[in-house]
Amino acid sequence: MPAVAFNNMPDFNQIIEQWQQRIHQLIAETLPSAEQEPKELHQAMRYAALNGGKRVRPILVYLTGLAFGAKQSDLDTAALAVELIHCYSLVHDDLPAMDDDDLRRGKPTCHIEFGEATAILAGDALHTQAFEVLADAKLTEKAQPQQMTMLALLAKASGSLGMGGGQAIDLASTNKAIDLATLENMHRMKTGALIKASVMLGALCAGSIKPEEIVLLEEYADSIGLAFQVQDDILDIESDTETLGKPQGSDIENDKNTYPALLGLEGSKQKLQDLLALALQALDKLPYNTATLAQLAQYITQRRH
Ligand code: IPE
Ligand code: IPE
Ligand code: MG
Ligand code: MG
Ligand code: MG
Repeated sequence: MPAVAFNNMPDFNQIIEQWQQRIHQLIAETLPSAEQEPKELHQAMRYAALNGGKRVRPILVYLTGLAFGAKQSDLDTAALAVELIHCYSLVHDDLPAMDDDDLRRGKPTCHIEFGEATAILAGDALHTQAFEVLADAKLTEKAQPQQMTMLALLAKASGSLGMGGGQAIDLASTNKAIDLATLENMHRMKTGALIKASVMLGALCAGSIKPEEIVLLEEYADSIGLAFQVQDDILDIESDTETLGKPQGSDIENDKNTYPALLGLEGSKQKLQDLLALALQALDKLPYNTATLAQLAQYITQRRH
């Protein structure tokens, strides 16, 4: 695919849209065709991955990678892998055994459209295809030495000490009172881990990173990762189903532990501002042009859906 002309973009919304289109196109080209057997499974995979979505994780891969001097073709691979993991996580998150939601990205959830068994398999197959994409890719000389590190990083971020584990804590603590430290840890795992992985994968595509830069990037990534879920919790209360494309009030209906449930709406918004400040401070100390990463941190804390 030809490279996106990054310098000709006048405003951040256009930057976002360009990357959204690119990742959509990459997913469309990568997933098995809906005509290939088993057709229903492939249809369900494409349905769950080609249904819009903000594509924040791929955008983080691209913006971090470009700031650090990575090649766009390497970033395509990392962006694709991380978004496939995310799409799988949403399919399973919506299942009756988990959040039992019937709307996602403005359309019936995968299990409503295709049935539970196919949705489980579609999630499984998106999950494994993410690793296939990253393992199979012929990366450039810059990124290739880090390929195994990238695979391990994505696996850890997705597994029982990352996203999957966070989801387990979410389910186990539903209908129970938990303290703020437990909530924060759960949010960092279920949502922060994959967001952090997106940032780190982008940087790894540029070559090996200096330890002091890793620390700063991790500070940025940790802050926006937690902020992303705090805003998700706020939007569950303040937004509406049409804008969100998923059922508003799902957390309250399911008696989930959220930031607004523990800190109130104002306390949660303050937390968001504190996290944004931490993210921006970390970026300021990096010797790169991180302007778009700063804009993305702002977008994450101000987004309306
Ligand atoms: C929703 O993620 C699930 C969370 C981790 C909060 P997004 O808000 O990124 O969902 P899409 O990809 O834009 O639909
Ligand atoms: C989901 O958190 C986190 C995932 C790992 C998918 P939520 O359950 O709050 O996500 P939404 O609100 O359904 O998108
Ligand atoms: Mg959930
Ligand atoms: Mg959910
Ligand atoms: Mg939510």
